Amino acid sequence: MNALQRAAQGCHGCGLYKDATQTVFGAGPCPAPLMFIGEQPGDREDQEGEPFVGPAGGVLDRVLHDAGIPRDEAYLTNAVKHFKFVLPERGKRRIHKKPSDAEVRACRPWLTAELRIVRPEIVVCLGATAAKALLGNSFRITKSRGIVLDFPEIAELGRQRPRSVLATTHPSAVVRAPDRHAAYQGLLADIEVVAELLN
Ligand code: URA
Repeated sequence: MNALQRAAQGCHGCGLYKDATQTVFGAGPCPAPLMFIGEQPGDREDQEGEPFVGPAGGVLDRVLHDAGIPRDEAYLTNAVKHFKFVLPERGKRRIHKKPSDAEVRACRPWLTAELRIVRPEIVVCLGATAAKALLGNSFRITKSRGIVLDFPEIAELGRQRPRSVLATTHPSAVVRAPDRHAAYQGLLADIEVVAELLN
């Protein structure tokens, strides 16, 4: 994994490397029974070089704890490995910008390489970007969240692919939701389905 991680540091597969501080590669045990895929690193992750260490990571930690999934059993990564942002005219806070389909496509070889090395049994897509990266552009979180699906055939993985994939909302949607409690309970219900699968 270290060699892969080092190689990703020099990735110029799309233009996002130009403004980001660094490539934020996945982190966690290898192999791992469970892999979570987010969208892209946020401001804090970009600075610290680790996935899910900011506010969305706080929600993820809490939901894993509440669902009884040990955090150290999970490998955490993102569909896109560089932070994409815009700078507002005033103020210095960098504002997250959704990656384009082309940027997600450019980053996909890193994701399939991680899947090959980590060999998870179960994959959880957090949010629409991760779900579309794995399950195709027609996938709708609103329609199919929390449903256990067979992992799709991906040529690079051959027969050694994960058993199941489940998509749910992104933890940052909980942070932004008008009714945070309801949004959190929805996320927890989906992650409890994952916990059942692991047992
Ligand atoms: N949001 C993500 O999708 N990934 C991170 O690593 C942090 C925030």
